[in-house]
Amino acid sequence: MKIVKKIGALRKALESPRCQGRCIGFVPTMGALHCGHLSLVHRAKKENDIVVVSIFVNPTQFGPHEDFVHYPRNLKKDTKILKGSCDYLFVPDVREMYAQGFRTRVEVGGLGELLCGRTRKGHFTGVATVVAKLFSIVLPQTAYFGQKDAQQAVIIKKMVTDLNIPVKTIVCPTVREKDGLAMSSRNAYLSEGERRDAVVLFQALKSAQRLVDSGVRESARIISVLNDFITRTVSARVEYIAIVDEASLSTLEKIERRALLLLAVTVGKTRLIDNMILKIKVSGNR
Ligand code: PAF
Repeated sequence: MKIVKKIGALRKALESPRCQGRCIGFVPTMGALHCGHLSLVHRAKKENDIVVVSIFVNPTQFGPHEDFVHYPRNLKKDTKILKGSCDYLFVPDVREMYAQGFRTRVEVGGLGELLCGRTRKGHFTGVATVVAKLFSIVLPQTAYFGQKDAQQAVIIKKMVTDLNIPVKTIVCPTVREKDGLAMSSRNAYLSEGERRDAVVLFQALKSAQRLVDSGVRESARIISVLNDFITRTVSARVEYIAIVDEASLSTLEKIERRALLLLAVTVGKTRLIDNMILKIKVSGNR
């Protein structure tokens, strides 16, 4: 695995494999790597000839009161984790990615203002902008994202379609700890007690599916039960619980066949997100 810090050097290194027609798979990350990231890298390795992973804690996707400064950074550990799994590790610094006078932004419109975008103003513009930049630096055939960041995945797919970017985006399943907590770099912020409480997100998602299985179809009823369950079980603040269409993210009053249930809950000082596809099980013909 080669570590590359400069855009020009990465472009040069990828030139010859690209000319030889070799497939390039790309996994963009902000580091603090865990098994969720590794599942993306392994999938990329399986499906491509060359795998590029980027680690860049992107300042433009953090609000002024968010954790940009404290976001976990440990390049040595991340490098060790990635060894043997990818070909190039791209680690630009902020000046390399945002030269002085940088102005252009990728605005994602309404999709970026819903759900997490309500409290994280400008977050998805920052994400879309940096992903568009990384795509045009790496020029991969395929890029891999986690379902854990469901809204981000929808927004990137929309950006790729709207801007005719020739990158196939693949969304891989959320990887969970043994007790069901979705893996996230921010889990490192949780104290021991908060870590125990954090499982409430997954428990809430599972209880929603049980409600659907028992015949409940009204989103408002499911949301209300989940809200009660979370606030009764642990000391956590629910930011939102939403049931939406998985492609458009528009609110669904009723679950017809499939729906995306998303949660944002703050445990202690740590804001956690999770989601699950709710499915109406159709019993087979006899
Ligand atoms: O999901 C992330 O880690 C980031 O939002 C991404 C896609 C690497 C952009 O900075």
